[in-house]
Amino acid sequence: MTILHLDASINGENSASRAISRSIVEQLKAGQWGANVIYRDLASDPLPHLTLDAFANTEVLDEFLAADTIVIGAPMYNFTLPTQLKAWIDRIIVAGKTFQYTASGPEGLAKGKRVIIALARGGFYHESSPASSLEHLETYLRGVFNFIGIEPEFVAADGLAISPEQRESSLSQAKGETLRLAA
Ligand SMILES: Cc1cc2nc3c(=O)[nH]c(=O)nc-3n(C[C@H](O)[C@H](O)[C@H](O)COP(=O)(O)O)c2cc1C
Repeated sequence: MTILHLDASINGENSASRAISRSIVEQLKAGQWGANVIYRDLASDPLPHLTLDAFANTEVLDEFLAADTIVIGAPMYNFTLPTQLKAWIDRIIVAGKTFQYTASGPEGLAKGKRVIIALARGGFYHESSPASSLEHLETYLRGVFNFIGIEPEFVAADGLAISPEQRESSLSQAKGETLRLAA
């Protein structure tokens, strides 16, 4: 099994999404002897904004296509994903490779991969919260992976900016959730 592990947080060792994505990968490795892990740090080694030339370079797409499981650390910045992660998404949504248009509409071509996303958000965005309409991280990532034929799984740590106590409890709840992923 090949695991592609991506992080995008600018917060280095203080990053919640990095801590959770690391925990997910550790759980997967514990349950799968001999798993091969490829790591990409999109913050310290950013991909440039998409250009036409970049479409010709398929390294990022090939890495995605070769992976069985993809684990993504996804912090919420300004209600959506970091641009570093968007630059990666821009390279994997490719007509003829990960989706195609058919007479009956778009069809995802990346079926069969497992995608697990570690969300870290400063606030709360559940349906009944007044800020729910500003949630463009989970909804976007679900939509984009659905489009290419994948139903992503999420582990979320929310309310991280509310108080140190809330941060602690959200982080430990999220790390607890990672235990079930390898089951
Ligand atoms: C530049 C920046 C923008 C942020 N914007 C939001 C936001 O729009 N909504 C929110 O709930 N939290 C926001 N936060 C808080 C982060 O989501 C929170 O700190 C989370 O832990 C970030 O993940 P990380 O620790 O992996 O970097 C923002 C943080 C930063 C640094």
